[in-house]
Amino acid sequence: MVPIVTIDGPSGSGKGTIAHLLADHFGLHCLDSGALYRLLGLAAERARLTPSMVNELVEIASTMKVVFRPGSVLLDDEDVTLAIRTERAGNAASRVAAVPEVRSALLQWQRNYAREPGLVADGRDMGTVVFPEAGVKIYLTASPEERAKRRYNQLKEKGLDANLRDLVAEIRERDDRDSNRSVAPLLPAPDAFVLESTALSISEVLEQVIGNVSRVYPQLVKPEA
Ligand code: DC
Repeated sequence: MVPIVTIDGPSGSGKGTIAHLLADHFGLHCLDSGALYRLLGLAAERARLTPSMVNELVEIASTMKVVFRPGSVLLDDEDVTLAIRTERAGNAASRVAAVPEVRSALLQWQRNYAREPGLVADGRDMGTVVFPEAGVKIYLTASPEERAKRRYNQLKEKGLDANLRDLVAEIRERDDRDSNRSVAPLLPAPDAFVLESTALSISEVLEQVIGNVSRVYPQLVKPEA
């Protein structure tokens, strides 16, 4: 079994940033599972599907053509890198993600990312459902206000429109939907290391996570030059 590190947590907790930095640090693959749900949310919106149209959603989940490139993502040959990062796409993702059949359709796809030399996977149910055998499970969280502020800065940096008060409300709404759905709700795995990051910088979080991974997977630590 290849080394697997899962990073779960609510929207805006910094999972994506930490997952990428961690994957770079150890030279591992990186799976942004939220991007898959965002792609599906976008495709579903474009096809005017509602969450109750289960068969059609599963059909799209099984046939959409997704290509991840460094720094960009294509959906059916169209560059949707920015389109999937809007709050609208995040909410569309959260709605389709509550459909059990959709989650099943994306399960094997996600598991296929577990390849040599190892994987860092971020999402909501990476440690609980998709990779329960992972050696390191992190649950990264922060207060809704802090997460909204981080999201605000991220969106502004990308030149996208944002309003802080709306973001706090949307984050609370999304937390609520992601936490209360019947399948794979947002929950720390019983064996997860819970990291409260409200008062921590990115480098402080990264340092703690690197420490955990190095203890569990010493083979990933490169000898000092
Ligand atoms: O991590 P993110 O904000 O990009 O995820 C967008 C939505 O996708 C999130 O609100 C819930 C859903 N999601 C999920 O249900 N399971 C995952 N493993 C990842 C994301």
